[in-house]
Amino acid sequence: MKIVVIQGPNLNMLGVRETNIYGPMKLEQIHAQMKEVAEQNGAEIEFFQSNLEGELVDKIQECYGEANGIIINAAAYTHTSIAIRDAISSVAIPTIEVHISNIHRREEFRKENMIAPVCASSVVGFGPFGYHLAMMGMLQIMNELKAAQEAQARQAK
Ligand code: DQA
Repeated sequence: MKIVVIQGPNLNMLGVRETNIYGPMKLEQIHAQMKEVAEQNGAEIEFFQSNLEGELVDKIQECYGEANGIIINAAAYTHTSIAIRDAISSVAIPTIEVHISNIHRREEFRKENMIAPVCASSVVGFGPFGYHLAMMGMLQIMNELKAAQEAQARQAK
C-alpha cells in the first residue's frame, strides 16, 4: 500500500510563515511524524511539495497506477485550481484534503473550494495534527477497500 502526500505552495515555509495561523511546526517535522505512522501500519509513503500548479498536476497524474491513496494540501490552489481538481478526478485514487487552518472561518475567498467535491474527505482546522487525522482516515479507507475486494474474491469462487 502506497500513500502519496502532496503539499502545495508556501507550505515549505511552515514554521516561518504566519505562525499565529499555521503554528511553529516545520513541514519536515510533520512528514517525519506521518512516516512513523505509515511504517507502523506497513504502508509506503512518499512526500512531494511544489509551489507550481503544473507540477502538482504532474505529481497527481504520476500517482495513477502507483499510489493507493493521496493526502493533499493544495494550499492557495484549493480556492482556484480547476486543473488540480480535474487531476484528482482523473486518477480516481481515494484522496483526502487537509487544511491546517479552518478555511471556513477565514477570508471569504477561502470559502471557495475547488478540491473538496472530488475528495473522499476534508480535514480542516486541526493544525498540523490534521495530517495525522488524514493518515488515520486514509488507513481506514484502505482497510475498507481491502475488505470489500476480499469479499468480492470470495463471492467469485
Ligand atoms: C491552507 C489554507 C489556504 O487557504 C492557504 O492558502 C494555505 C494553507 C491551510 O493549510 O490552512 O496556504 O491550505
